[in-house]
Amino acid sequence: MSNSVEIVFSIEVLESAAELSSEDQSLLEIAYKALKDAYAPYSKFNVGTALLLKNGEVVIGNNQENVAYPSGLCAERVALFAAGAQYPDIPVTTIAITAQSDTVSIDEPLAPCGACRQVMCETENRYGQKIKVLLKGDADKIYVINSVSDILPLSFTPDKLAVK
Ligand code: THU
Repeated sequence: MSNSVEIVFSIEVLESAAELSSEDQSLLEIAYKALKDAYAPYSKFNVGTALLLKNGEVVIGNNQENVAYPSGLCAERVALFAAGAQYPDIPVTTIAITAQSDTVSIDEPLAPCGACRQVMCETENRYGQKIKVLLKGDADKIYVINSVSDILPLSFTPDKLAVK
């Protein structure tokens, strides 16, 4: 007989940015500005990220592509690794992510890729600080997620490497 486990998480769906705090609105605006400077000549899919750190600093990222495709990096990891390099002791509290493309319409709020979720998850675990995730596409709709662990259930975490 097999058992199944249901993993439930909730995403808050907002109709527009007006429902966000002014701090979160401005973080999304910074992410939107950042996507304009993405280097995405191959996909023409620009992604922008803005991180709010616990000390109030904001770190941005955008996707950086390469003709050798796997050498490029997503916006989220560009921002998270820059924050890790510049502010190694400061937790990240919020990550705003948005995207725009000339070739496709992004009807739903952008869903970060699995590798970026893993890196976001590491950042949560590293500082013991939940990261709020704000996601937006072309439409006004916004998803708000209270913790990265909500969008990466059954994740590979440091305790899995604990010595026996
Ligand atoms: N991309 C991101 O920057 N973040 C994501 O979460 C999804 C995808 C980038 C990678 C690549 O430059 C382009 O979007 C198309 O996949």
